[in-house]
Amino acid sequence: MPTAINLTLLLLISLQIGEIWSVCNITALSSVDAITLNKDGKSEYHYGVNFNLMDGYRVIYVTKANVTELCEGIVKFFGKLEELNLIDNNISSVEKNAFQHVPKLKKLSLAVNNLSVLKSGHVNMVKTLEVLYLTSNRLEIIDDDAFDDMINLKRIYLNRNKLKTISSSWFKNCSKLEVIDFTNNEITTIPPRAFTNLAPSFQDDFVQYKLSYNQITEISPDVLDGNKEFLILRLDFNRLKELPVVVFKNLAQVNSLVLNSNQIACLDKEILDYLKVHTISFHLVNNPIECACLDKFDNFVNDNAMQASFYYNTTFNCKLLKQMPVLIN
Ligand SMILES: *[C@@H]1O[C@H](CO)[C@@H](O)[C@H](O)[C@H]1NC(C)=O
Ligand SMILES: *[C@@H]1O[C@H](CO)[C@@H](O)[C@H](O)[C@H]1NC(C)=O
Ligand SMILES: *[C@@H]1O[C@H](CO)[C@@H](O)[C@H](O)[C@H]1NC(C)=O
Ligand SMILES: *[C@@H]1O[C@H](CO)[C@@H](O)[C@H](O)[C@H]1NC(C)=O
Ligand SMILES: *[C@@H]1O[C@H](CO)[C@@H](O)[C@H](O)[C@H]1NC(C)=O
Ligand SMILES: *[C@@H]1O[C@H](CO)[C@@H](O)[C@H](O)[C@H]1NC(C)=O
Repeated sequence: MPTAINLTLLLLISLQIGEIWSVCNITALSSVDAITLNKDGKSEYHYGVNFNLMDGYRVIYVTKANVTELCEGIVKFFGKLEELNLIDNNISSVEKNAFQHVPKLKKLSLAVNNLSVLKSGHVNMVKTLEVLYLTSNRLEIIDDDAFDDMINLKRIYLNRNKLKTISSSWFKNCSKLEVIDFTNNEITTIPPRAFTNLAPSFQDDFVQYKLSYNQITEISPDVLDGNKEFLILRLDFNRLKELPVVVFKNLAQVNSLVLNSNQIACLDKEILDYLKVHTISFHLVNNPIECACLDKFDNFVNDNAMQASFYYNTTFNCKLLKQMPVLIN
């Protein structure tokens, strides 16, 4: 039977080992200002408190702590934690298993930090997570399996980063996803089968995929591959000049397609024919639609029983352009 002295020794030894094994320095978090919610929902302000002593709180909000690295087990055994916001802290790296043993964590925000790489094991080990904010970092590289098996994830915000591509391998086994936000990145193309891992958990639910304010010039003809209507696709404020006709053959997958503020001059007759038979809401305002093409659209909408709700206008002043010859004469 171990004596008390032996136990103390054992403890000291494991502390030593702990120190040897943990290269990650969390001393920076030993004195932070934070807002927390206690278990009764009462908010409390803490100044210069040791982060490790916040393990009883439901919501923790830490900003401007200048923590450059999130170490493994940083919130280990924060058993009541439901919401963790580490915003504007200059975090530039996350160790695998940083967020382990947080059985109730539903919302994690690492917004406004300095992350450039995201790997599997950084966030996707938190199976309870429903909302994830990675907004306003410098994310450039996200591994194909970084979000795998996030079975409860509903909303993910990756807006305002430096992503140049999206991967069709992301979001495997993330069956509850409702909102994916890539607004304000540097994405240039949409690859084949980009949305293949997405499907709403209930019929009549839609997944909103936001790619607004990127630099997209190209959509792969094979971008849509399914026959289920589930997608709301926002591609406004990009640089699309045209759309592959093939995309529209699979339009059944899309419920709403937003192409406002691109550089589209006209649409193929074949595309209009697809729109005629599909119930989607199709948005094409603020594009440089040629005046002749605008007339074509008007005639088409008047002559056909359109299934789609088709919203369009042009950045040209066609009325003025039409009057010009008259004025000149
Ligand atoms: C850990 O960080 C603190 C403060 O940021 C610093 O004083 C200390 O030297 C660091 N320790 C190691 C081992 O890097
Ligand atoms: C933030 O922390 C880093 C590394 O610990 C240090 O080099 C830097 O000076 C700190 N910045 C400020 C503003 O305290
Ligand atoms: C952020 O961290 C980097 C690298 O550790 C450091 O050079 C920089 O001063 C930090 N910035 C701020 C605002 O603390
Ligand atoms: C982000 O990290 C880089 C180095 O990794 C550093 O040069 C830069 O100062 C950091 N940015 C901020 C805002 O601290
Ligand atoms: C999805 O992820 C859960 C949680 O990790 C796992 O138990 C399940 O086997 C996975 N399902 C598939 C189809 O991979
Ligand atoms: C096009 O329509 C949108 C939405 O109705 C409107 O905000 C915009 O001002 C219109 N543009 C022109 C050039 O009429």
